[in-house]
Amino acid sequence: MSVRAIVLAAGKGTRMKSSIPKVLHEICGRPMLWYILRELRAAGVDDIVVVTNDELQARIGEFDVPSVVQREQLGTGHAVKTALDATPPRDGSQVVVAYADMPLVPHDVFVRILTTPSGETPAAMTLVTVKMPLPSSFGRIVRRGEDVERIVEARDASPSELAIDEMNAGIYAFDEAALREAVAALKNDNAQEEYYLTDAVAHFVRQGKRVRPVTVSDHLLTLGINDRVELALARREMNARLAAAHMRDGVTIIDPATTYLEPELTIGRDTVIYPNTTISLLSTIGENCAIGPNTRISDSRIGNDVEICESVVVQSEIGDDSKIGPFAHIRGHAKLAGNNRVGNFVEIKNSQLARGAKSAHLAYLGDATIGEDTNIGAGTITCNFDCQRKNQTTIGKNVSIGSNTSIVAPRTIGDGALTGAGSVVTKDVAPGERVAGNPAKPLKPKN
Ligand code: UD1
Ligand code: MG
Repeated sequence: MSVRAIVLAAGKGTRMKSSIPKVLHEICGRPMLWYILRELRAAGVDDIVVVTNDELQARIGEFDVPSVVQREQLGTGHAVKTALDATPPRDGSQVVVAYADMPLVPHDVFVRILTTPSGETPAAMTLVTVKMPLPSSFGRIVRRGEDVERIVEARDASPSELAIDEMNAGIYAFDEAALREAVAALKNDNAQEEYYLTDAVAHFVRQGKRVRPVTVSDHLLTLGINDRVELALARREMNARLAAAHMRDGVTIIDPATTYLEPELTIGRDTVIYPNTTISLLSTIGENCAIGPNTRISDSRIGNDVEICESVVVQSEIGDDSKIGPFAHIRGHAKLAGNNRVGNFVEIKNSQLARGAKSAHLAYLGDATIGEDTNIGAGTITCNFDCQRKNQTTIGKNVSIGSNTSIVAPRTIGDGALTGAGSVVTKDVAPGERVAGNPAKPLKPKN
């Protein structure tokens, strides 16, 4: 049977008090809308349309999903009608309707509503209900005996209805023909003067059609985000789930509450992550690493057996067996081949360090290539910017750069060369040559 989904995201999101559309607010590095699309696809639903407003429509290209604009936000029932009016009817099709402000719904909830239990006839509407602590702004499930009779929105509810603790989660599966007929019949005679999708329940019950409730036990799964307090709650829960998945895969996380993760990260076995660490943007970390505390790794690839402590690594690569930090900043497509030591207060930008190259203290290495086993002394600066353009520094292998050397780029320093402490290098240095001074000049050969 064919299945399609309508994801409602056109609401004004007034309670967020934001100029950004609600469903674009981020949870663990991804917009809220990203999660529900991922989970629908994981449930096997690929034919999805998102109902947007004008602001969201301008950004919907990021999501690679068809969309329909609901120009006026006249309610959830009207939003569904807008989506259905834009697509030709498909007989016998099931339609999932979900609200985009629910990023924590796991895909198996969609599978459950789409699967009619054996022996039962398919329902006109299946809806997810959940018990929740009161008070709550969710719509209440009014039952008669076992059967769901109607949903009453909190704003339209009587005191006795407000005391009901079984809520409408906002996730449904419909028979398409029944849904088309029901949304055409909705009225807006309620407190908000909106066309409520939830009124479809009473509509089907009046017609003697079947409405099937599916109960979810954990109300956090169906958290609907309407303000930034709920956004923080969802972020904490999502982060805890991400951390749990990595821990089950063999990563030690000392304090999951202060380890900030995103979906789609790779972290190898026996890696230990210390507190206050953020790892983002598809970063990969190898096995047996020690990361953190107080570290940020973004859009980077880290090898095996690497230590990174109290440091920032952005858009860079760090090879196996390297030791970074404390207080290093590695960025701008820096590449460390492996077995490198980058220590206290060292900034490396758009530079390549060959295996074994070291810069242990207080340096700036920008637009530089540094050869194998070269040692960069404390206080070394590659003076890469001449106030007009960035210039390249090339340092060979087994070079010894003395403390407080300034290398005025563009400059080449050959293999095995040496600069004395405090050198200002304004000319290229030949392989094996030893220079010192300001400006640096060749030292007399030792007798
Ligand atoms: C809705 C439900 C309520 C349920 C709760 C669960 C209705 C009438 N009420 O209330 O029973 O308990 O969700 O979270 O459905 N939207 C549109 N167009 C509109 C209006 C809303 O696309 O004209 C979208 C919103 O962007 C949002 C979703 O529909 O993603 C739900 O709207 P929202 O205003 O958050 O409804 P709730 O008051 O939370
Ligand atoms: Mg809501």
